[in-house]
Amino acid sequence: EKGGYDYFMLKEIAEQPHAVAETLLGRLNEHGDLLLDEVRLSDQDLRDVDKVFIVACGTAYHSGMVAKYAIEHWTRIPCEVELASEFRYRDPVLDRSTLVVAISQSGETMDTLMALRHAKEQKARVLAICNTNGSTIPRESDAVLYTHAGPEIAVASTKAFLTQLVACYLVGLHLAQVRGVKYADEVAAVVAQLQEMPKKVEQVLSTMEPIRELARELAEAKSVLFIGRHVSYPVALEGALKLKELAYMHAEGFAAGELKHGPIALIDKGTPVVCVVPSPRGRGVLHDKVVSNIQEVRARGARTIVIAEEGDTAVAPYADHLFYVPVTPTLLAPLVTTVPLQVLACEIAAARGHDVDQPRNLAKSVTVE
Ligand code: M6R
Repeated sequence: EKGGYDYFMLKEIAEQPHAVAETLLGRLNEHGDLLLDEVRLSDQDLRDVDKVFIVACGTAYHSGMVAKYAIEHWTRIPCEVELASEFRYRDPVLDRSTLVVAISQSGETMDTLMALRHAKEQKARVLAICNTNGSTIPRESDAVLYTHAGPEIAVASTKAFLTQLVACYLVGLHLAQVRGVKYADEVAAVVAQLQEMPKKVEQVLSTMEPIRELARELAEAKSVLFIGRHVSYPVALEGALKLKELAYMHAEGFAAGELKHGPIALIDKGTPVVCVVPSPRGRGVLHDKVVSNIQEVRARGARTIVIAEEGDTAVAPYADHLFYVPVTPTLLAPLVTTVPLQVLACEIAAARGHDVDQPRNLAKSVTVE
């Protein structure tokens, strides 16, 4: 049932191109309108939205962090992302013009469910992004967009994450379209870029051998740091989370610009730092800033492991290990940059002799608060 792979996780990583393609399937009608799955909200309800909150936990929360960039950019509606476990305890400002997006692979995560119920009590509209048909979170929501990742068995979330990203992009585009900020042809253009992603993820997967070799070298490291900016910041957090849960190693993700405000003190001779570099085309300034962040950590002895876009030669002199991913629009880049980090964590854990699919102390679905 593992389809020839040693672990479900490896199988699920390999299934990502298909999962992304399935989640995109049939989303545009003949007028170029985006389609969600179950919508018990009118277009007018969506036009009235003046604030978006995203609530989720763990990996799903990281997809929400990426979504914030896309949703604010495309819709110009303020969007906050919040850990579901914190949400209701701080009395957030919610009313009927607030849209709360709950993201959950299982649809049964208690923290996320309680956040959703709190939002509904305050009359907010609730939209679920979920991978499990008929589970509690979508049942209690006003609208649902299902991710079609297929069942995810490994405790560490991989293909669900990539499909959550796709679903978030679709929700952002849908909101923009209904509100008239983006028109059918612009939406179709982004959807066309999204349709390219399965192929690009496939390309990344075909170049993972050097990552596996590196993983064996890093198996004894005491700590691994991850840095990124903009949408690569949540990717850094996701890379660190995967490593913690699978390899039981100290791992931390940082916004690269924050390093100088404290965390750079952690860098010692040989400290592995995984750096996720934005495209030099999109927001060029940001790219150059990350390159100088990489220079800074390297000057303090870090061993730099760099994930950059194909053709980015500027970063090469500062990379002890350099891995290229295909050229991708900035907002969509997490769909490709996350993949090497998943493989890295999985292979480090395997090299350390851990059960990759069933890490200690963790369950696939967390149904207690
Ligand atoms: O089922 P959910 O998406 O609601 O689960 C949320 C988190 O518990 C989950 O993503 C967890 O962080 C994973 N083990 C991460 O790999």
